[in-house]
Amino acid sequence: MKLLNIALDGPAAAGKSTIAKLLAAKLSMIYVDTGAMYRAITYKYLQQNKPEDFEHLIKTTDLSLTYDEVKGQRVILDNQDVTDYLRENDVTNNVSYVASKEAVRTFAVKKQQELSAKKGIVMDGRDIGTVVLPDADLKVYMIASVEERAIRRQKDNEERGIDSKVDQLKQEIADRDHYDMNRKISPLKKADDAITVDTTGKSIENVIEEILTLVHSIA
Ligand code: DC
Repeated sequence: MKLLNIALDGPAAAGKSTIAKLLAAKLSMIYVDTGAMYRAITYKYLQQNKPEDFEHLIKTTDLSLTYDEVKGQRVILDNQDVTDYLRENDVTNNVSYVASKEAVRTFAVKKQQELSAKKGIVMDGRDIGTVVLPDADLKVYMIASVEERAIRRQKDNEERGIDSKVDQLKQEIADRDHYDMNRKISPLKKADDAITVDTTGKSIENVIEEILTLVHSIA
């Protein structure tokens, strides 16, 4: 099979990272979670008590992704592995704001494009098919109902030992989607040539199968 780049976009908690990870493993490709980059910058923003000068924040930021065979993608921020802090509520509730800033996006998109230059990447995010990889070999736009996404996030949180309530998660997810879809710079939207996959009520295996069929149709 030729080397491909696959772009996986969609709203919060639609199952993108679960699917992208499994898909990458099945296809011997590398999974790049771009949300983790925005989360790492948000983590730093919070550590520094929310400075409004994002240009300066970025200028003083060293961010890289490494890949561990067992643990998968790790995010190294200013020489520290911050991966385990990136799903904390405070980061989640501030990340859409930080990700809307031009300096932040320019920085992250450049890194993402460098990472995908060699191909063989499954990349998930919000603007991968529209901005980061407009020439991706396959673009999938993954959606699911807000109810189902909140329930999935709740299970996720339980496994990570994070306290949360479904109703509150529903509200947070809807707010984040609204913010991500309505920001000025590269908002979340389906690329014209992306294929929508609705994961509501489908098992992970079904979704993987559906996307693998798409991959095989182009490979
Ligand atoms: O996929 P995630 O929930 O980890 O993403 C966290 C936030 O980062 C999301 O609410 C918007 C932002 N994001 C973005 O703007 N562009 C991306 N390519 C990925 C994430």
